[in-house]
Amino acid sequence: MTRDRRPRPQAMLRTRLVRCWMTVSMLAVPATGLSATPEADPALAAGKTRFEKLCVTCHGKAGVGREGRAPALQQRPDLELAFIRKRIVEGKHGDHAMPPWGSVLDAATVEQLVAYVGWLSTHDATTAGATLTPFRLDDAERIAAGRKRFNKTCAGYCHGYDGVGGRAPDFRDRPDLTEQFVFDTIYHGREGADVMPPWGDALAEERIWELVAFIMDLAAKPAD
Ligand code: HEC
Repeated sequence: MTRDRRPRPQAMLRTRLVRCWMTVSMLAVPATGLSATPEADPALAAGKTRFEKLCVTCHGKAGVGREGRAPALQQRPDLELAFIRKRIVEGKHGDHAMPPWGSVLDAATVEQLVAYVGWLSTHDATTAGATLTPFRLDDAERIAAGRKRFNKTCAGYCHGYDGVGGRAPDFRDRPDLTEQFVFDTIYHGREGADVMPPWGDALAEERIWELVAFIMDLAAKPAD
């Protein structure tokens, strides 16, 4: 049996949407350099903004989930839109409750959230293209700010000066490190052989992203 290679209507629509998106994104180049995710779709973008205000405290940045608080919402193809909508509107009682938003948010806002969570559920929001950073991580000034804070705040504890040496692993030549992983580790801390303290309450998220910028810059450097 040969596969039908005629363009499907969805594919044609997608091509049209991509073209439209390119036009829109060329007109609206974000001044901050914020990566246009989700792909400059105004409804998704609005949903993302809401999500970051209302949902990340429990579901984590980009819906990666937070242990002991709330499940991940990204990479969750099992979540259907109708179910997502029902949960957002009605919430759910439990040991860890999901608050009901139906009486707090208007229908249009709920739909923006449904669209964004639906997008998250089928994407790996932890990959570079979809990471929700407040600025470009390769910005030299941010890297310098991160380095300064790192040497002031982190080097004294466990990490060596400039992220080399010390009691913690070297940060150079670390292709395994992803932006979101580094952010989450700084934000929430981690307990391994040694304890990495959580900085989420002590440092503003933007400051944490500067540390991420510095560490990701190091991670791309050879280890001598
Ligand atoms: C106070 C913490 C908290 C906040 C804030 C919160 N949630 Fe939740 N959410 C939860 C918990 C806990 C669950 C899991 C409930 C269960 O199934 O027991 C959940 C479940 C969900 C689910 C279903 C996931 C699944 O695996 O069943 C969706 C969708 C969802 N939340 C979306 C949102 C959205 C969108 C927002 C922001 C408007 C939000 N949540 C804000 C705690 C929270």
